[in-house]
Amino acid sequence: MEKSDTKRLRSRDWFGKTGRDGLIYRSFMKNQGFPDDQFDGKPVIGICNTWSELTPCNAHLRDLAEAVKRGIWEAGGFPVEFPVMSTGETLMRPTAMLYRNLASMDVEESIRANPLDGVVLMCGCDKTTPSLVMGACSVDIPSIVLSGGPMLTGHFKGRKIGTTDVWRFAEEHKVGKLSDQEFREAEAAMCRSAGHCAVMGTASTMASMVEALGLSLPGNAAIPAADSRRKAMAHLTGRRIVEMVSEDLVLSKILTRKVFLNAIRINAAVGGSTNFIVHMMAIARRIGADLSLDDFDHYGSDIPLLVNLLPSGDHFMEDFYYAGGLPAVIAEMRELLDPEPITVNGKSLAENNQDVACYNRDVIGTLEKPFGASSGTAVVRGNLCPDGAVIKVSAASEHLLRHRGEAVVFESIEDYKERIDDPDLEVDENSVLVLKYVGPKGYPGMAEVGNMGLPEKLLKRGITDMVRISDGRMSGTAYGTVFLHVSPESWAGGNLALVENGDMIEVDVEARRLHLDVSDEELARRRASWTPPAHDFDRGYVNLYVNHVEQAHLGADMDFLVGKSGSHVKRESH
Ligand code: FES
Repeated sequence: MEKSDTKRLRSRDWFGKTGRDGLIYRSFMKNQGFPDDQFDGKPVIGICNTWSELTPCNAHLRDLAEAVKRGIWEAGGFPVEFPVMSTGETLMRPTAMLYRNLASMDVEESIRANPLDGVVLMCGCDKTTPSLVMGACSVDIPSIVLSGGPMLTGHFKGRKIGTTDVWRFAEEHKVGKLSDQEFREAEAAMCRSAGHCAVMGTASTMASMVEALGLSLPGNAAIPAADSRRKAMAHLTGRRIVEMVSEDLVLSKILTRKVFLNAIRINAAVGGSTNFIVHMMAIARRIGADLSLDDFDHYGSDIPLLVNLLPSGDHFMEDFYYAGGLPAVIAEMRELLDPEPITVNGKSLAENNQDVACYNRDVIGTLEKPFGASSGTAVVRGNLCPDGAVIKVSAASEHLLRHRGEAVVFESIEDYKERIDDPDLEVDENSVLVLKYVGPKGYPGMAEVGNMGLPEKLLKRGITDMVRISDGRMSGTAYGTVFLHVSPESWAGGNLALVENGDMIEVDVEARRLHLDVSDEELARRRASWTPPAHDFDRGYVNLYVNHVEQAHLGADMDFLVGKSGSHVKRESH
């Protein structure tokens, strides 16, 4: 960067200061052994790292950050790595989603409070991507995402496996098809390298989302974590953020409505997770882009499924990368995408991906020969969900997309666990399983429990799918005819709270309908004696969350976090 440009560097408000404050800012940086010409007058680039040994999917990000630093140094910037709250999917209780908004607050305040001119967001496991992007949007300085990459494909008993197989293993173990020892062996085989889940689950969906939104360099989504090209991507990302600072390419110049619509189309083509909707809504509302739940149906539901990856298809992220990755999908979709929006490298998706080849048509299809006619998420409405509910059609069973059945109601996740395998439970394959109080406020945290496992007695009969309805989410690795994100949720007084055993429920995905066949008078009678189950979250973050979290169709962000405050720090330090 030219000397004449240095005046507009945000970091100069710290390191360019004279007097006592400037002395303190510079002096304490020097205790790390940096000569002052390294950070004084150069773009200071934060590396916002979700590395944590408690987030196994991101455990390699500390190492990967070194490659980012190389790129930043090379381009004339000054890298400073800092940790933020890391929301690991596998270990956090009750659900990592409860902490997405908290992590985003950490990210936002850490970026704004420090002398940063640009930031590299290092993400991987599911919630680590939206939490970082949401926080960065509320500050709106030049920002670029680097994903950690998927794990290598697992192998077990001569067949490829990934985290989608968790559900199959659990069901096979339940009915005795898999021994205790085999169950243990499968654990080691499933997660065999660094990286996040190796199917098109939520982490891969989020990595694809940031690439589709133009927030990462082309090709970022699919390079396996263990592949040396992931480090090269990190290096190039570090190099590019320094240029973005000199171009003042802030997030709000990239994240327009058009780019969100492109991302919806691309997510549909890759068969991405339903969690995409909640996170995209939250990101759009942070940056101020006009987006609604209906946009996901309108712009995504007629997009053909172009990617044959689990859980909707057969292959793994590693196969996806070797076939050409997201660039090959974008190249194939060229005529369906808006060519205008720019990405972090200043070029459009079309320019970035115009000469990309596909190397395996069994993994990435064509518009003429897709893997499914339509793959996006359908948004349904009715008296059970006036503000909407969603279903991933590509993961559902065709014969259940239009269905009428009697409700079998579970009043909580604990109630479900206690009774689902009871041989006396009155349930058959035509029943509709209903789970209450697993939404944003009700769980709290909107847990991934919507894809309730089927009753053991039906599994033993070979039944593999049933209609399931809840106000929760489902893992991106899961599948089934599962209606999710019912809004308003039961704990907030939605009609889902009023469903009783034996009520008839009608679903018709083509008509976008989810209806509880109970009269308004009867519902009013039930409502008169209804109160939400008591919560005992009377202090701390969870109390704040329950009182301020918005409903799923708005992105389940906190009401006071919607929007942005910019990067200006209003008060001087003293
Ligand atoms: Fe981290 Fe699946 S558990 S991505």
